[in-house]
Amino acid sequence: MTAMTAQTLTGDAKRGGELFQKMKCVSCHAVRGAGGSVGPGLGVKPGMHDSANAVAAAMWSHAVKMWEAMEKAGMAQPRISQQQAADLVAYLAGKVRQDPPGDAARGRKIYEAKLCASCHDQYSGAPEFTRLTEAVSPYWMVAGLWDHGKGMLSRIVEKKAAWQELTAQEVGDILAYLNTRK
Ligand code: HEC
Ligand code: HEC
Repeated sequence: MTAMTAQTLTGDAKRGGELFQKMKCVSCHAVRGAGGSVGPGLGVKPGMHDSANAVAAAMWSHAVKMWEAMEKAGMAQPRISQQQAADLVAYLAGKVRQDPPGDAARGRKIYEAKLCASCHDQYSGAPEFTRLTEAVSPYWMVAGLWDHGKGMLSRIVEKKAAWQELTAQEVGDILAYLNTRK
């Protein structure tokens, strides 16, 4: 598994803006003005998409409906690398707000409550997050969502469970918990 600390990645807003065009996000979303209106405006409300955890949480929470919209539009879902996630965050946020440190103890409870623990173990066939070789970051959450989200969703449907929404704070807490297992 490849994972990197948030600190090793610096987002570039200009490159993020180019990706936003190239990946056709702009056909559905407006950022500070111009763009489509199929999806909500991004980076508009203060506190909404202004940090890495906030963008990761918003994408996780809305992924299923977003993928449905992409399918309906006949669009292929792009893959997003961790560096590209950092660039997109820099573009959406404008000025990237530093996230407060997560709480590992709280993160452990959230990891269980949001069902992550029920799949990411040595039994379920999902990647095991018990032995991380490197620290994980919100960019890892974004890249993982776009690369593996459909596989995750089909397992959740099989279990007759519901896709889980996450807040920015919950993303930070889950990451703090996972990073204690490094
Ligand atoms: C085919 C249309 C479509 C495309 C293309 C698309 N999105 Fe979305 N997106 C949506 C819709 C619809 C929602 C809202 C889903 C919901 O209501 O739960 C959404 C939600 C989001 C959200 C959460 C917004 C919130 O309410 O907090 C983010 C962030 C986001 N998209 C980013 C992106 C990025 C980045 C790209 C390009 C890689 C992209 N989207 C491509 C349709 C699209
Ligand atoms: C129902 C089972 C299930 C649940 C619940 C679940 N996952 Fe997953 N997850 C998977 C599977 C399976 C994959 C691999 C998907 C694939 O590509 O087929 C995956 C992949 C991932 C990846 C990508 C890993 C990588 O190597 O890039 C991340 C990150 C991730 N999950 C995080 C989470 C988090 C955080 C939660 C809780 C909020 C969660 N998952 C909940 C089954 C699940």
